[in-house]
Amino acid sequence: MATQLKSNAELDIIPLSPAIGVEVKGIDLSQPIDEGTGQALRQAWAKNSILLVRGQDLDYDAQFAYARIYGDVAARVKPPVEKRSYRADPDNPMQLVTNELDDEGKPVGSLGDGEMWFHTDKCYVGKPHRASFLYAVEIPSEGGHTKFASLYNGYDRLPNDLRAKLEGRKVLQMYDYTKTEPGSLNQPLENLLHYWQPVFVTNPDTKRKAVYISRLMSMRIEGYSDEESRELINAVADIVEAEDNIYEHVWKPGDIMIWDNLSCLHARTDWPREQRRTLRRVTIKGDALVG
Ligand SMILES: [Fe+2]
Repeated sequence: MATQLKSNAELDIIPLSPAIGVEVKGIDLSQPIDEGTGQALRQAWAKNSILLVRGQDLDYDAQFAYARIYGDVAARVKPPVEKRSYRADPDNPMQLVTNELDDEGKPVGSLGDGEMWFHTDKCYVGKPHRASFLYAVEIPSEGGHTKFASLYNGYDRLPNDLRAKLEGRKVLQMYDYTKTEPGSLNQPLENLLHYWQPVFVTNPDTKRKAVYISRLMSMRIEGYSDEESRELINAVADIVEAEDNIYEHVWKPGDIMIWDNLSCLHARTDWPREQRRTLRRVTIKGDALVG
């Protein structure tokens, strides 16, 4: 039997901010999502970079089922053993982003603590994850917000001289799992995850261009010295991180957010260490980037 296609107009879609993001209301993700609704959700996400649904009660299966609307779920990628500070849990199919400790005082999840600068997930591999999801389980009384910045707007707002300096170039994306500030180039690159990506990335869904640079993980611009590269990266980051280009999400338990790693950056604000913060993370596979 043919599936009845729904249009976007049938979903209750509300902007989260002038710069980026939408919230979808009146949908229960613990129930099966029909194909037309799934298509409308996917279109709304690709166009707006982030898509929030609040008040959801999702077990692991429901979270995975929701994720599959947007693409193929990626296998969990764990840091190298020597850089892994948390307890390995091979039976858990989902990454726990949590500061919870076990009885021996070891972290039960990863990326648990503190502020994290603007970045985009897995930009330092050949096929970055296309999308990431966070589902909020336990949230502190203050802080631990996630900020999202539009890389579409970042591209559109580049002054002509800066755009000309970056046109057709590649950017070295790099990540050191042990750090929450930029890694240093004064160490052998082969010890770190790194990949040269196009500076300007064409989004496969919207065909819009985004400037694929972040202060945390972009290290070098092709054809420029370290110092010149840092100046260019900071100039772009100042534009991308402008207040009017950001939506800051204040989490509540039951929120599920999906973001497009090709068209936005995300960052995390600090929160009191003694308060627990736990979210469940899933990612969607991506392809090699097109400039
Ligand atoms: Fe991230």
